[in-house]
Amino acid sequence: MSNSLGVLFRVTSFGESHGPCIGVVVDGCPAGLALDAGVVQSDLDRRSSSGQPGATPRREPDRVRVLSGLYRGRTTGAPICMVVDNTSQDSSAYERLAVTPRPGHADYPAGVRYGGWNDPAGGGRFSGRITAGFVMAGAIARTVLRTVNVEVCAHTVAIGAVEAPPCAPEDVPDRHRANALSCCDGAAADAMVEAIKAAQAAGDSVGGVVECVALGLPPGMGEPVFAGVESEVARALYSIPAVKAVEFGAGFALSRMRGSAANDPFAMLHERVVTTKNDAGGVLGGLTTGMPLVVRAGFKPTPSISRAQKTVNLESGTDTELTIAGRHDACIVPRAVVVVEAMVAIALCDLGLRCGAIQQVVR
Ligand SMILES: Cc1cc2nc3c(=O)[nH]c(=O)nc-3n(C[C@H](O)[C@H](O)[C@H](O)COP(=O)(O)O)c2cc1C
Repeated sequence: MSNSLGVLFRVTSFGESHGPCIGVVVDGCPAGLALDAGVVQSDLDRRSSSGQPGATPRREPDRVRVLSGLYRGRTTGAPICMVVDNTSQDSSAYERLAVTPRPGHADYPAGVRYGGWNDPAGGGRFSGRITAGFVMAGAIARTVLRTVNVEVCAHTVAIGAVEAPPCAPEDVPDRHRANALSCCDGAAADAMVEAIKAAQAAGDSVGGVVECVALGLPPGMGEPVFAGVESEVARALYSIPAVKAVEFGAGFALSRMRGSAANDPFAMLHERVVTTKNDAGGVLGGLTTGMPLVVRAGFKPTPSISRAQKTVNLESGTDTELTIAGRHDACIVPRAVVVVEAMVAIALCDLGLRCGAIQQVVR
């Protein structure tokens, strides 16, 4: 397994869905950073299922416990270990999934890869619950980034076939928390809720797209060629369970444009180099341009649905049907918005330290 991410700002994830806790160790966080556990808690609260349309009925308070790396409210430079306890486990529904794997979930390949010894309860290491650790680390990364005036914000731009109208990156921070979907457009958010409810009522699930913007990045950040901004941010985003697509700027649409339309013209504005549009999503050559970073993560529909599905019985070697019990999100997206923010912030914090834009001690 590979459970650590980053070179200088290094995040290690641990814990299983139905084990005692979910946790994370952040190593390499700059020393002297004023860190209030309340900031971590408020991001965990945004990931929580309570109040989210179509969210799992599994309710856990997810109270963060910071076990190390803090002294008198400031980071010490030592590893920061944070955990939340698992308090609402019901593993009864999961035992047979090792034999009749869920379509769309990791039960089958994980059983093969780990010789059947992987913890199947609640999806084990393949549960969306591990993202509580990502969010705790992300809250620290965002706090570090704020010391150099970088803000990372995500918002929901699509649920199923419902798409929100575009929102300028600069407007996202003021608008993205207006509703439970973290959608910058109220009417689109209402339609998205209806789409989630309709899927749920049909015993089904629905996916969507989360866009993340990072404002205030200096130009020239990134480690080409193998650790450019796109490489590192995409790697972090693809670590989120259920992310199946990542796109920067105009993304796939760029491949259908001519160069004259695709290129973002440069211009001078208040003695700064800017581009007059930002289809590159703030990255050229793997390096930040100084324009907002704009990246989208595409989430597939939640694999566990209550409708009967075709699968196999691995003991008898026959085709069979599976009806899934247990508690599941009809749509992952509303809870994943803060997870996307976290992973983008973690990748940018690491790149910031690597290029010297962020110092090892906060002065
Ligand atoms: C916040 C979050 C919550 C999730 N909740 C569920 C869930 O309730 N049921 C489920 O089957 N999958 C859920 N998932 C998705 C699965 O963990 C994921 O689809 C599975 O591990 C297979 O990985 P893959 O989709 O990346 O290939 C969730 C993912 C996230 C990010």
